[in-house]
Amino acid sequence: MHFYLDPGGKLTGSIRVPGDKSMSHRSIMLGSIAEGRTTVSGFLEGEDALATLAAFRAMGVQITDPTAGRLTIEGVGLRGLRSPEQVMDVGNSGTSIRLMVGLLSGQPFDSIITGDQSLLRRPMGRVITPLSQMGALISSHEGCPPLEVKGGRALAGIHYDLPVASAQVKSSVLLAGLYAQGRTSVTEPAPTRDHTERMLNGFGYPVDTRDGVISLEGGGTLSAADIDIPADISSAAFFLVGASIAPGSDLILEHVGINPTRDGVIRILRAMGADIEIMNERLVGGEPVADLRVRHAPLNGIEIPEEEVPLAIDELPVVLIAAACAEGVTVLRGAEELRVKESDRIASMAEGLSQLGIRNTPRPDGIEVTGGEMSGGVIATHFDHRIAMSFSIAALRATDRIKVSDCAHVATSFPGFSELAVRCGLQLEVADE
Ligand code: S3P
Repeated sequence: MHFYLDPGGKLTGSIRVPGDKSMSHRSIMLGSIAEGRTTVSGFLEGEDALATLAAFRAMGVQITDPTAGRLTIEGVGLRGLRSPEQVMDVGNSGTSIRLMVGLLSGQPFDSIITGDQSLLRRPMGRVITPLSQMGALISSHEGCPPLEVKGGRALAGIHYDLPVASAQVKSSVLLAGLYAQGRTSVTEPAPTRDHTERMLNGFGYPVDTRDGVISLEGGGTLSAADIDIPADISSAAFFLVGASIAPGSDLILEHVGINPTRDGVIRILRAMGADIEIMNERLVGGEPVADLRVRHAPLNGIEIPEEEVPLAIDELPVVLIAAACAEGVTVLRGAEELRVKESDRIASMAEGLSQLGIRNTPRPDGIEVTGGEMSGGVIATHFDHRIAMSFSIAALRATDRIKVSDCAHVATSFPGFSELAVRCGLQLEVADE
C-alpha cells in the first residue's frame, strides 16, 4: 500500500487521534494479571496493541473484542496465566516483546515469542541482561528474537542501573520484579515514559519513585481497574507539525495525553516558534490530558536539547520535517536510539529528506537539517510507520507530488491515519497495489 500526496493544503478542524499505544499495551498486560474485571476505554485498535491482546488470550485470558476502543479483561491474577499452545507472534511490536519477556520470565511455563522481519533485527540483549541477573533463562538468536523463555525459574529482586534510557527495559525489569523475591529497583540515565509505574499504582500495586530510584516489592496483588486511555501524543505529533508548517492551519487535537515524560515534542516545537496552546488541562485516570490548539507559525532551527530526546523519542522523525521547513539549521544529538527503532530512523529520515532536496548531515547519534524548499519525490519508508506518516505530512509544504511507498505499517500505531488526515486537509490518496 502506498500513499500519494498532492502538495500544499492546510489542516483545520477538531480531531481526536487514536489511543495511546504505550498505555494500550500496558492495560492488557496489567489487566490480565490483575484480580477481577478490568474495563478499558480509548484502547488503540492498532496491530501492535492487538498483538499484545492476542498473546494474552493465548495465555488463557478472556478479553472481549475491542469495539470503539472499549474492552473488558477477566483478570486471572498474578499466577493465573496458562501455557500458550503456540509460539506467540507479536508482529512489529518492540513494546510487546520487551515487556512480555519480563513478565514471562516469572511464569511456571516455557514460552517462545517472535515477530516480523523488522522485529527479528531488533536488540533484545538490553532486556536479557537484567532479566538473567534476576535468574531468568532466556535464549535468543544472537541477541535478537525469537526469544525462548524458560519457565519455573525462581527470580530474585535486583537493583539495575539502566545503561540506556529505555522505558521498555525499565518496564520489563519491573514486570519481572512482580514475580521476584524481594525488592526490584532501577535507575535511569534520563527520565523515560512512566506509564508502567503510573498504571501499576492505578491497579493498587505500590511502585515507589524516590530520588530517581523506581522500585517495587515482588509478590503483591493487582486489583482490577477502569482504565481510560487518552489520545496518543505520538500520533498527535504528526498533526502538531503539519498545522505548524502549513500556512492557514488552525487545528484542535482533542483529549491528548500530555504526561510530562511524553510531551517533549511540544517543548521542542515551541522552541522552534510553533504556536501550540494547551487547553482544558485535566487528570484522567492518573494521566494528564489536554486539548491542543495549533496554528501555523514560522519556525526557526534550533539545537534540540539532549534531555528532551527520551521525552520525544518517537516524535523525532516528524520533528525533522518541521526542521526541514524551518529557517536555519536544526541539530539533533544524543539520539542514537533512533537507529534501533522499527527502522534506522536517522538513516531513513536522511534518505527521505535528501530525496526532497533538503540538505542534511546524518551522524552516529543524530542529524543536522538545514531548512529549505522541499520538492516532491518518492520516499522509501523502510516499512516504518512513523517514517511513512512523517513524509506524508511533509507534502503540506512540498512543491510537487510525493509518493510514500509501503505504508501498510501505519496500521501498527495509527489505524485510520489516512482518513483522518484527509478529513482535516491533507491531500492524500491511498493506492492498494
Ligand atoms: C515505548 C518505549 C520507547 C518507544 C516505544 C514505546 C514503551 O521505546 O520508542 O515506541 O511503550 O515503553 P524504548 O524503551 O526502546 O525507548
